[in-house]
Amino acid sequence: MQQPQKAWRVEPNGPLVGNVAVRGSKNGVTKHMVAAMLGNSPSRIENAPEIGDIDITAQMLEAVGCEVHLDAEASAIDIEPRSMGRGHVPVHFSGLNRIPILMVGPLLHHIGEAFVPMVGGDDIGARPIDFHVGVLEAMGADIQILPEGLEAKAARLHGAHIELPYPSVGATENALLCAVLAKGQTIIDNAAVEPEVIELALFLQRMGAVIEMRPDRRFIIEGVDELEGAEHKLQGDRLETFSYLVAGLITGGEVTVHGCRQDRLVTAISTLHRMGARFTITDTSISARADHLTSAAVETNTHPGFMTDWQSPLVALFTQCHGLSVMHETVYENRFPYVPALNEMGAEIELFTQPLGGTYNRFTGSTHPCSAVVKGPTRLQGRHLEVPDIRGGFAHVLAAAAADGQSIITGVHHLERGYHRPVEAFAAIGLSIERVDYEG
Ligand code: EPU
Repeated sequence: MQQPQKAWRVEPNGPLVGNVAVRGSKNGVTKHMVAAMLGNSPSRIENAPEIGDIDITAQMLEAVGCEVHLDAEASAIDIEPRSMGRGHVPVHFSGLNRIPILMVGPLLHHIGEAFVPMVGGDDIGARPIDFHVGVLEAMGADIQILPEGLEAKAARLHGAHIELPYPSVGATENALLCAVLAKGQTIIDNAAVEPEVIELALFLQRMGAVIEMRPDRRFIIEGVDELEGAEHKLQGDRLETFSYLVAGLITGGEVTVHGCRQDRLVTAISTLHRMGARFTITDTSISARADHLTSAAVETNTHPGFMTDWQSPLVALFTQCHGLSVMHETVYENRFPYVPALNEMGAEIELFTQPLGGTYNRFTGSTHPCSAVVKGPTRLQGRHLEVPDIRGGFAHVLAAAAADGQSIITGVHHLERGYHRPVEAFAAIGLSIERVDYEG
């Protein structure tokens, strides 16, 4: 007999209206936890969300000897790195998130050798680690790729001139984490400048790192001999903020999101604005509403472009906009697996393997679709939805909120890994989600 699965029962209830407070970003908090490994005293990270990714990362840090204290009441994480004594992250952490590869630099700095299991995360493309390996080798690490993970050795990493083949967020973060304690100067060219990357660089600067940021995607880092622990209150999650703003728009309501600054959402706000959304923006909150939403042609890109993690909520919204919309994905090669379920709900979305956008497509020849054309508005009907990945899963919840009739959503562990208390957040804006066991 099949084991019952954890599921959400979503009962649409008209326009979603109300307030949501977001915490620090999923893609910022775990990197700060890794950076804390570099200090010679404890660090404190505040405004931490309650997400599965923090528990996974905390356990990996503990596995190498760090002391990690999750202070739920204060929404803070305290990390004591001085007890770190092992360079081996156990294989059972394989495939859970993208963090192990970022731990190599800190482990090399402290212990001189490292083993980390293969990185995981969502199945949104091949997600190779060749840029990371290139960074580590350029800085003097001896790398062996084994079936179960990556082994690295280095007496001391040294500075290097690194030109990334693509402005990869993770590879830029990896280079920063290696360079700050390396011997000599490191230049990172074609670096990612996503707000989460800049926030990490600023945290490292607080720890004592010598980092310069140039306007042309260039970081220059002078390695130092020691870093101290630091404190930081994380900036709000711009993916969650966008997603909840869309939750209001897709249901004809108005959601106000607190806790994320406007400058982290410039392109997202402009995109929704052009489609007919009207905003009220203060120093601490953003709200969006619309009487009539029209179609748009959007392509994802690195910052400051329209980020790939905003793509699936926007495609869900396109199903309720008037006209033909186009979404062209340029960052990952497999980011539309959530679309067939939306079509089964009644959406009219056609996927294309040919690029329907201006940006050079790195995935030419891939059999995965890279563009979507969406005809709207369409009436959606609630049904059973299986979440394929974290951001695709949120698109399913949005579609379920805008549909007629109940939906059952399975695979919700993806959502619980990356969103802070999503069921409670939706309840606050009027969407009833019940946690149930699904036997179907
Ligand atoms: N890439 C390579 N080789 C590498 C590294 C990356 O080819 O060694 C490619 C990737 O396959 C992808 C592109 O470069 O096609 C960009 O990948 P990037 O390294 O920038 O992504 P990441 O660091 O693995 C982070 C976020 C993603 C977010 C991207 C882009 C984390 C944990 N993840 O991934 O977030 O989409 O940057 O902004 O920070 C999510 O939260 O749902 C998520 C997937």
